[in-house]
Amino acid sequence: MKSLYLETVDSTNKWAKEHISALEDTTIVYTFNQTAGRGRLNRTWNNTGADNIYASLVLKPSGKMKEVYSNLTQYLCVVIAEIMEEYNVSPRIKWPNDIKINGKKVSGILAEGVINNNCLEGLVLGFGVNLNTKKEILDKIDQPATSLNLEAGMEIDKEYFLNRVYDRFCLVYDKFIEEGFPLIKEDYIKRAEFLNKHISVKVFDKTIEGFATGLTENGALKIVDKQNREQILLIGDIL
Ligand code: BTN
Repeated sequence: MKSLYLETVDSTNKWAKEHISALEDTTIVYTFNQTAGRGRLNRTWNNTGADNIYASLVLKPSGKMKEVYSNLTQYLCVVIAEIMEEYNVSPRIKWPNDIKINGKKVSGILAEGVINNNCLEGLVLGFGVNLNTKKEILDKIDQPATSLNLEAGMEIDKEYFLNRVYDRFCLVYDKFIEEGFPLIKEDYIKRAEFLNKHISVKVFDKTIEGFATGLTENGALKIVDKQNREQILLIGDIL
């Protein structure tokens, strides 16, 4: 594993972006003490203790922006879910890239890009996984949250888990960049918790309600709204 461990950091994503020019493709920056973690849509990611993972994977694919880069979070999400399954749990994906177990969030991903002179210098895929979080800490989080150890009934070796995610990601990374979302579509859909259901999706300041019918070949969400119109959502948050 090409890795860089930080004893304490405000945010591994922020750190990785600031140091991106010195970091090689597929370097993972991680800590067990993140003091100001950031989440999607300007939310925060809580520090749930030192037995959990706070990591950012630095990727430096070709400088030209490709559509497939926006699907890398979905690829990472499938990878994390697959590694969780090795602990005999059933993770479910909430579009686009949250992971839940028994309806409670256990992992989230935040992707950020660094652009210099109109060129993509690199991507930072940050992920947080509750591996060994105490129940009293989970209870303080503002949404239902869980931890792998509680669901699996065993303590999770955080270094081992991180290594498994890293190796699994790197194994198919090049192929994924070539082939894009279709490569993982089936693996993603079989773990999706939102399909064939009535859902509400927040897209910026609008909420779209409808029936989630499927995903496009590039990972966008297909939803049929109340007026029976199909909408294709590239970004959003299922409420
Ligand atoms: C979300 O669910 O909203 C995404 C959460 C992403 C959290 C991780 S923890 C490591 C990395 N550093 C950050 O500041 N955020 C990501």
